[in-house]
Amino acid sequence: MPRHFLKLSDLAPAEARQVVARASALKRQTDTGYRPFTGKTLAMIFTKNSTRTRVSFEAGMARFGGHALFLHSAATQLGRDEPISDTAQVLSRMCSAIMIRNDSQRDQQELAANSRVPVINGLSDLHHPCQLLADLQTWFEHRGDPRGKTAAWIGDGNNVCHSFIEAAALFEFKLKIAAPIGYAPDAQLVRAAGGAVELVDTPQLAATGADLIVTDTWTSMGQEAETQKRLQAFAGYQVDAALMKLARPEAIFLHCLPAHRGEEVAAEVIDGPQSVIYDEAENRLWAQMALLEFLLQ
Ligand code: CP
Ligand code: NVA
Repeated sequence: MPRHFLKLSDLAPAEARQVVARASALKRQTDTGYRPFTGKTLAMIFTKNSTRTRVSFEAGMARFGGHALFLHSAATQLGRDEPISDTAQVLSRMCSAIMIRNDSQRDQQELAANSRVPVINGLSDLHHPCQLLADLQTWFEHRGDPRGKTAAWIGDGNNVCHSFIEAAALFEFKLKIAAPIGYAPDAQLVRAAGGAVELVDTPQLAATGADLIVTDTWTSMGQEAETQKRLQAFAGYQVDAALMKLARPEAIFLHCLPAHRGEEVAAEVIDGPQSVIYDEAENRLWAQMALLEFLLQ
């Protein structure tokens, strides 16, 4: 049975730490000619746009001597209703792993159930686990082990928030979430994280004393019709300099990108000294190389 990575909690805590540490080691290492993926191919299915996810997987496969195939679903037979189970059977006889970005965790599960090779979630409606490997790597690199520290999630209880919730339980940090009424994260995921996660009533309560502040777009891909309603619902949830002042002085700011300056985050914060967003984006490359190595070897 192949190991899949459909959500962060598909890794045991020690495995997640191992992958993140390996990501940092790969980043520090000069090119030694190590090419573990010679002859290996990653199929990448996208039903949604991407810059970081596509480029980091493609560049990572190339650095390891392998190859990545960009498959926009509309240009494949998936776009003509070929069952995802047949797609899984066929791709997994030709490729060494499959990455998928779509709007259905359930379809990803079906893909994985019918695949002979590892399936990786490159973002779904419910999770964005690759993002969290990079985020954790970034937190470790800037401030050391997050165990016992506190992160504040300000904004939508979305896919990235859900993976942050799983990260809090796996890496043993506290996560305080401030989301407007109606935009709270999945209650079952919050419950599963136990004491690691706390929902609070205001962004100020979440940010006070935090070691890390994180937010994401108020309107995720596929929700564009709700943009105006969401702009109203999230008024008061912008991460600005006043909110950052409530956090610890050494707090860092994360955002998975793409960002909307003047909406979920003020330009003075995302472009300011506490922001480590470009390290975070770069770490997608190293974290996914470490993940692929873990899943394929
Ligand atoms: N953060 C992230 O997943 O970026 P892309 O949508 O550009 O892949
Ligand atoms: N929550 C965002 C993340 C983009 C990387 C979305 O799903 O569009």
